[in-house]
Amino acid sequence: MSTTIYAHRGSSGLSPENTMPAFQQAEQLGAEGIETDVQLTKDKVPVLIHDETVDRTTNGMGYVKDLTYNELMQLDAGSWYAERFQGTKIVSLEEFLSWIKPKDFAINLELKNNIVDYPNLEAIVLEQLRTFQLEERTVISSFNSESIKRFRSLASDVELALLSSKRMEDPLRNLTECGANAFHANYRLLTKKLMQQCDHHNVPLRIYTVNRPSRMMRCYNLGCDGIFTDFPHLSMEKKELH
Ligand code: G3P
Repeated sequence: MSTTIYAHRGSSGLSPENTMPAFQQAEQLGAEGIETDVQLTKDKVPVLIHDETVDRTTNGMGYVKDLTYNELMQLDAGSWYAERFQGTKIVSLEEFLSWIKPKDFAINLELKNNIVDYPNLEAIVLEQLRTFQLEERTVISSFNSESIKRFRSLASDVELALLSSKRMEDPLRNLTECGANAFHANYRLLTKKLMQQCDHHNVPLRIYTVNRPSRMMRCYNLGCDGIFTDFPHLSMEKKELH
């Protein structure tokens, strides 16, 4: 099976991350999947943003958890990246799912609950996935194994991936313990042995964040199931050469 190219936070190397322009561009550039990050507002609306605060990627300040959805909607999430993106808004999960539903994308929702604790994030996300009937082409991921456990206790039919940037003695055991059935690993962890272990246990192995062409080729050659890249067009070009 060939490697699925996920646009990391949308095509975040070319547009403001996790915004509609980044998702639309990923589509134009031929990405096969989209990876994005989910957090909850003060009034429990799931929204797409990577950092726990809005400081880096908007003209506002403060923790996402301390701002209401309406307050977040007042912020500009594009100007920090380039003036031409002025007026770009933070995207809600609902808006994203409704946009992606008729399209042929694989979806990866990363639950950003490893620093801030969002009670019920798993149930809220699951409910939206069910509403849009998108469970089958979505993988939920998290660095937080407790969150993966909670999600697994709510749904047996959703693919769950444990994220890691740290070398683990026995990654397959860590996955089993929390109920994950896929592994999303930092590129530094990628070895032939890890690929073989994952293959042997039928565990999809997807690698982040792969922006260098030589690294893309290595992932393809080893047979990784997916890569996350800020530059989906580069990845598609390399895949064609592969
Ligand atoms: O989900 C893959 C990758 O996005 C994980 O790293 O820091 O971008 O959330 P980070």
